[in-house]
Amino acid sequence: MGKNKDIIILGIESSCDDTAAAIIRNEVILSNEVSGQAIHMAYGGVVPELASRAHQQNIIPVVDLAIRKAGITVSDISAVAFTRGPGLLGSLLVGTSFAKGFALARQIPLIEVNHLQGHVLAHFLKEPSVTKKDPTFPFLCLLVSGGNSQIIIVRDYLDMEVIGQTIDDAAGEAFDKCAKVIGLPYPGGPLIDKFAKLGNPKAFVFAKPRIPGLDYSFSGLKTSFLYFIRDRIAENPNFIVENQLDICASIQETIIQVLMIKVKLAAKETGIRTIAVAGGVSANSGLRAALIKAAEKHEWDMHIPPFKFTTDNAAMIAITGYFKYLKNEFASHDATPYSRVTLK
Ligand code: KG4
Repeated sequence: MGKNKDIIILGIESSCDDTAAAIIRNEVILSNEVSGQAIHMAYGGVVPELASRAHQQNIIPVVDLAIRKAGITVSDISAVAFTRGPGLLGSLLVGTSFAKGFALARQIPLIEVNHLQGHVLAHFLKEPSVTKKDPTFPFLCLLVSGGNSQIIIVRDYLDMEVIGQTIDDAAGEAFDKCAKVIGLPYPGGPLIDKFAKLGNPKAFVFAKPRIPGLDYSFSGLKTSFLYFIRDRIAENPNFIVENQLDICASIQETIIQVLMIKVKLAAKETGIRTIAVAGGVSANSGLRAALIKAAEKHEWDMHIPPFKFTTDNAAMIAITGYFKYLKNEFASHDATPYSRVTLK
């Protein structure tokens, strides 16, 4: 590898219900394509078997589009990075198999990426003609998505340690499951966010979990929300319709408070004041506002990603692949997907 040679990485992401492909040149995004799967809406959640089939249909068109939009040719690609896990096994198998086939055919290195590491490293993605400041090491990252809620110390690009995590449901699951209880379609997180903007966050009070240390728990909150709604409906069958905005604002407020308590504690305990947020739930406007407010109060250097990098995307897989490429961390063609694994 010549020192000044551009490195072009094809990133492939297929861990859940989005089939995504991206091309980056060094740290700069040339294309970032995603094909969602509307089919799951009818079922109120992702159906793994249907997701795998849709990935199978989508992967070639999505990769083709990413390459064309990047304005490169297949022979320009230095390596292919793919999400090895965690995620749905059948879905991961599609991206993994495609990446292996591509790498083998082109005789280029294969790089495996941990999806969670990808969410964190999305903070280092650059867009052409957009200037931004990268977080400096070490920083704390609150990673909140549909499958994970973690607080991570990021010491270097590939040196991360989880110092707190959920012992049951993820924050995104709490949003989605509470949304389901009040009849909102999947994924309910963005809808709760939308309605919460118009409601009173103090209208209803829900008990917050008391979990020691930096860990989270959301399953108790979900259950108490379910009983709360059930009891109110018994008194007034129109309770949800009449109070939808306030219910959304109040449950969102509670989830945010739960998240913020531990972020503040982590910053205090570690003395680290550079804070980042990542994952689908970091799109939540209330959480963003709470983080900005806390950053002002505690003098944190706060890093909030653009909305397009909060949810699953392949550019974050490509950038992680880029940092691994620089360290010659390549995967074997024997690598099989894993459904559950945290960061080291
Ligand atoms: O990171 P992500 O796209 O997928 C993984 O879980 O890997 O996160 C999806 C989660 C879903 O639970 C969704 O409801 C939640 O992120 N989400 C939101 C918002 N946008 C997405 N939750 C609350 N407010 C939002 N604006």
